[in-house]
Amino acid sequence: MTTTPDASAATDWWRDAVFYQVYIRSFADGGDDGVGDLAGIRAKLPELVALGVDALWINPFFPSPMADHGYDVSDPRDVEPVFGTLAEFDALLAEAHEAGIRVTIDLVPNHTSDQREWFQQALAAGPGSAERARYVFRDGQGADGAQPPNNWPSIFGGPAWTRVADGQWYLHLFAPEQPDLDFTHPEVLADLEQTLRFWLDRGVDGFRIDVAHGMVKAEGLPDVDFDEAGLFDDHGPGDPRLDNDGVHDVHRAVRRVMDAYPGTMTVGEVWVSDDERLARYLRPDELHSAFNFRLLTADWDAASLRDAVVHSLASVEQTPAPACWVLSNHDRPRHVTRYGDGELGTRRARAAALLQLALPGMAFLYNGDELGMPDVDLPDEALTDPVWERSGHTERGRDACRIPVPWSGDAPPYGFTSGSDTWLPMPAGWAGLTAQAQAGDPDSMLSLYRSALHTRRTSPLVRGGLTWLPAPEGCLALRRDGGLVLLVNLSGAPVSLLPGDVLLASADVTGGTLPHDAAVWLRD
Ligand code: GLC
Repeated sequence: MTTTPDASAATDWWRDAVFYQVYIRSFADGGDDGVGDLAGIRAKLPELVALGVDALWINPFFPSPMADHGYDVSDPRDVEPVFGTLAEFDALLAEAHEAGIRVTIDLVPNHTSDQREWFQQALAAGPGSAERARYVFRDGQGADGAQPPNNWPSIFGGPAWTRVADGQWYLHLFAPEQPDLDFTHPEVLADLEQTLRFWLDRGVDGFRIDVAHGMVKAEGLPDVDFDEAGLFDDHGPGDPRLDNDGVHDVHRAVRRVMDAYPGTMTVGEVWVSDDERLARYLRPDELHSAFNFRLLTADWDAASLRDAVVHSLASVEQTPAPACWVLSNHDRPRHVTRYGDGELGTRRARAAALLQLALPGMAFLYNGDELGMPDVDLPDEALTDPVWERSGHTERGRDACRIPVPWSGDAPPYGFTSGSDTWLPMPAGWAGLTAQAQAGDPDSMLSLYRSALHTRRTSPLVRGGLTWLPAPEGCLALRRDGGLVLLVNLSGAPVSLLPGDVLLASADVTGGTLPHDAAVWLRD
């Protein structure tokens, strides 16, 4: 057991915490193989303290054949050798806690690796066996069963079914190497509970729950009535693969375990945009919180951003959960790129940071957000995301937003590894983007994040509920009850500042005007 951070004994420390998502492969390599690891995270803890984050979410680091970069887990209760050892994880946990940073980890309940012992046993045991009942095996359709059991597409492209040698088919909402578990089987739930306890007993502070709306499929596995399933699109009610009512029983079971470990929390990856359907996951006996992806999918205009904020708040209003704001993650184009890339995208990303961090609730930063990292167009031969193959080379997948973080120096690998190669290539021209280069520049993205996080953590202004203020056309203005005023200018032209003292601005506001695509924090 490790010590608990002394920042506060409060069990709901997470309600307004800033989480930092560590995509472990790409955060920092403590060795020379060009793949990030636990040693790399340990080495960079001082940087995270300087940044001012409250907690980490570390993407999967469990034993995995890496068909989906760790989301194909072959043993949920151990550490993948590429990333380190269990002892190294314990050391990281102790050091993070010592530094006042909580640690949450990924939980992948919906599916396992096809190399997990359970799935190998299921293949060997044959149709109708108890071993197969842990997964979703079915006979095919047609006279010889050569057609899949239904028409479901995989979220990564292609059919969601793969046929095995004896003729049966198994379900995989993602890659064929990620067979879905059947949560109606008691051993499946019992195993999940064991995994939760395994990590909670080591001292983790919580879990990000992968595909938290997917563990239970519609009764009878009825066909879907759409042709194409876009990657991670929310198909809304009526998609029999996702958001079925039975999934809430799984969350209740998870919560019962969590409740025995006060001060721990869950955040669900719930790609459900309907406010009321999302709120169901946040009932008092289910998830502590869930990502709201509206900000991550909103266009850069005042109406869309306001709509994202309004709906995110509405989805939690009747629940005990705080809102949870995300601009980027390892599955979606980075927001610098979404907002137009280059100087314009960066300028908007600076404003977006002040928007995100002014809002009430939890905020998740994706590693590299604080440096203003953009996506990188990689050549075909460098692509590693299973989406690229599964989609028949029509979707390039998510490698572009997963490039290793540049730490120092003026050429690849920018201090990411002591080796020379990185698992995804890093581009030339990033000397100015490195943490080292930005740390010394008061006008850098990194300095903006550090200041915003410091103010957010220490100032009573950034507290309490939110009220919309009258704003010039094309602008957003809001006030936190504590007294912070945020003005975001999306009007395309400069606007006058609102009354108040300037605390922090994403662009130059001397002269009392806020330039376009900029934001400011004021004390009213
Ligand atoms: C989640 C993860 C994504 C992964 C998928 C399958 O959506 O965020 O990266 O590929 O689940 O586990």
